[in-house]
Amino acid sequence: MVDINVDGFLNIEIDPSLDLFQEINKLKKEKNAIVLAHYYQEPDIQDVADYVGDSLGLAQKAAGTTADMIVFAGVHFMAETAKILNPEKKVVLPDLKAGCSLSDSCPPGLFKAFKDKHPDHLVISYINCSAGIKALSDIICTSSNAKAIVDSLPPDQKIIFAPDKNLGSYINKKTGRNMVLWNGACMVHEIFSLEKITKLKVRHPLAKIIAHPECEEAILNIADFIGSTTQLLKYTQTDDALVYIVATEAGILHKMQANAPGKTLIAAPPDNSCACNDCPHMKLNTLEKLYLCMKYELPEIIMDEQLRLQSKVPIDRMMKMSQDLGIVG
Ligand code: 13P
Ligand code: SF4
Repeated sequence: MVDINVDGFLNIEIDPSLDLFQEINKLKKEKNAIVLAHYYQEPDIQDVADYVGDSLGLAQKAAGTTADMIVFAGVHFMAETAKILNPEKKVVLPDLKAGCSLSDSCPPGLFKAFKDKHPDHLVISYINCSAGIKALSDIICTSSNAKAIVDSLPPDQKIIFAPDKNLGSYINKKTGRNMVLWNGACMVHEIFSLEKITKLKVRHPLAKIIAHPECEEAILNIADFIGSTTQLLKYTQTDDALVYIVATEAGILHKMQANAPGKTLIAAPPDNSCACNDCPHMKLNTLEKLYLCMKYELPEIIMDEQLRLQSKVPIDRMMKMSQDLGIVG
């Protein structure tokens, strides 16, 4: 009998002679499992995954898979979304404590009170939130479909947007709306330094600045291109600049560099003494934990059925709207 420890993962010694890539690929076949990974995962995890994508792409892949087990190398809300869409499948996450500061910034109790103050507003929530928030929402969105979803609604529709105030105010600016914003933010995208990025740009005048919409307005104002992780990745492949300053979590650089080998990619510097812009939640997952969670099928995402059904409604709306609008992650 194996059990997860208090920190939320399996702490079992692994034979150091094992080739974990080989073992994980063997387990995929034996268990008819699919490994889905976000771009912010460490390079080894991205390399062993069956699919690497942004939040929308991962949700679409999870919705369409015929695998029996979904191994989600990402954070909790992503694995939870996969479970909401696949109640009959086993969904495992290498580290159950891999959370999200943005999701944590919006507790359902407080959000319910906020929502009650705006009874005539539709609630659009960014997918980076708990099932409890999804259950209180009308439509879910991601960074790749938020603008299109908002644009598809009647111009006089009153809207609450949660939990990311940066993405929300960016969409307000792009659409000319005045959505009421929940005051949440991502700890990784909030710490980029405008001053350091500006200095970098002076040293690399031909570099283009590309940014994720979770960044603060001051960073978005100087960006040449703004998009979801997949959109940023595609941009560096198709755009003709040779140097990019990349304002999002540094994990994206792995695939970005592989897909655009001739280009120079510079991670945008954060406003602190260390030079890192890693998401501490995403980086809780390791190749070792991934192997153990596949082998022992733990930790597993277990959900209350009532909550699952309630939180599925706004996700289904997003999936349908994305399909109708032709948006893939
Ligand atoms: P996307 O990959 O959907 O752009 O989201 C970024 C992110 O912060 C995920 O937590
Ligand atoms: Fe959450 Fe930010 Fe980490 Fe994404 S990068 S999982 S939004 S804390």
